[in-house]
Amino acid sequence: MNNTYTIREAIPDDAEKMILYLNQVGGESDNLLYGENEFIVPVEGVKRKLAMSKESENSIVLIAIENEQIIARAELEGYYAARIRHRAKFSISVKKEYWNQGIGTEMIKRIIDQAKTMKIRIIELEVITDNLRAISLYHKMGFTDIGIYKKYFFVNGLFKDAVIMQNNL
Ligand SMILES: CC(C)(COP(=O)(O)OP(=O)(O)OC[C@H]1O[C@@H](n2cnc3c(N)ncnc32)[C@H](O)[C@@H]1OP(=O)(O)O)[C@@H](O)C(=O)NCCC(=O)NCCS
Repeated sequence: MNNTYTIREAIPDDAEKMILYLNQVGGESDNLLYGENEFIVPVEGVKRKLAMSKESENSIVLIAIENEQIIARAELEGYYAARIRHRAKFSISVKKEYWNQGIGTEMIKRIIDQAKTMKIRIIELEVITDNLRAISLYHKMGFTDIGIYKKYFFVNGLFKDAVIMQNNL
């Protein structure tokens, strides 16, 4: 296992690296919102988003860094409305060359700790039904299936369903 990476909260100055990362990792599976080079948000926009997350009391973006490059990213995005403020949406990706080294597990542990600190009670996510690696990781980390979102993705000319999961903290 590779132990030379560090995990920390992303800051606005990480924006350019984040864009490079998202455009690369998007091409490494069909399981993310953006495909290869489909993340076309300008640097300023990403900077603003990272600044907002950093200021926020119920959102956080964590990155794993090795050799000054982002190798993984996990995000918890809280809601503004009072009635759903106990919930937060989760997403994660790890660069393919680093899969199966425990980085995803470690990022989720950190996110769960952060969520508890932020008094979030439910972490929620959707995962494409054929993404068995992610599904097994989420189950291991305490997520349970609560439903199926039909036609969640349209990718490569096909609709794909997603499992909706939640983790009650
Ligand atoms: C899903 C993802 C985040 C996992 O990250 P990771 O760093 O490889 O995760 P870990 O190494 O901590 O754990 C992977 C687990 O999947 C298991 N696994 C690996 N291949 C598998 C497979 N084909 N089927 C089922 N489980 C599998 C491993 O055994 C490991 O479980 P273990 O800790 O019990 O041994 C990473 O593969 C990724 O970024 N995928 C592309 C983007 C993505 O799918 N994101 C999630 C969108 S919802």
